[in-house]
Amino acid sequence: MFDYIQRAMPWTAPKSLKPDEVYAILAYMLNLAEIVPADFTLSDKNIAEVQKLMPNRYGMTTEHGMWPGAPAKKGGMGNGGVPDVKNVACMKNCKPEAKIGSTLPDYARNAHGNLADQNRTFGPVRGVNTSGESAAPQAAATVSPEMALAQKSGCMACHGVNNKIVGPGYNEVQARYKDQPDAETRLVAKVRDGGQGVWGAVPMPPNAQLSVEETKMLVKWILSGAK
Ligand code: HEC
Repeated sequence: MFDYIQRAMPWTAPKSLKPDEVYAILAYMLNLAEIVPADFTLSDKNIAEVQKLMPNRYGMTTEHGMWPGAPAKKGGMGNGGVPDVKNVACMKNCKPEAKIGSTLPDYARNAHGNLADQNRTFGPVRGVNTSGESAAPQAAATVSPEMALAQKSGCMACHGVNNKIVGPGYNEVQARYKDQPDAETRLVAKVRDGGQGVWGAVPMPPNAQLSVEETKMLVKWILSGAK
């Protein structure tokens, strides 16, 4: 879990957490799972000990036919046992009910592209179709040509209409430049070339895939409220 959180989270800015922050988040999750107390300080010194507290730490067994493949006489490394499907379910000390404790935030749903395209079309799980979704709640409804272009161009993965994601919200951009007549020209160049330093240390990558006209259309739209 430490490794996964450190490398893949948060969803919109992987690898941005410091090791101490990853330990803190992991400790919080372990506390929610009732494995460590709320005031527990997790660190590289004690994480191996904590692993031993995991309820199923020693529960893994190779004593079943699924491990690790076909039986030896059929060319595999398995032990020839039967699949573990006849056990009686343990119905002691059950939680009264399982509740979903978190969901992917709206702004992150389409941050890595359409989830439906990234899941198999067979098996029990289907990806939700997130194409056309974005930080902007109005995206699900019919959108303006500018919004459609912003979505298609990936802008909405980093900018919300009313909220910061990786880059500033369009509302913030509009507010900042409302009294600056040359803002349009400057921002067209900035969007095409990318850059950093105005809103923080995180850079915007260049958007050279857009024509100057398209970029102008987007900047005008942002400066007029991004409807
Ligand atoms: C990978 C994330 C990312 C993408 C994709 C992205 N931006 Fe940005 N954008 C940023 C960041 C970060 C900043 C802040 C840069 C800075 O501090 O100078 C920014 C800044 C801006 C600004 C304000 C620039 C300024 O100097 O004040 C505008 C306007 C903007 N982006 C529009 C767009 C448009 C239009 C697109 C799509 C073509 C787009 N962005 C795509 C991350 C992104």
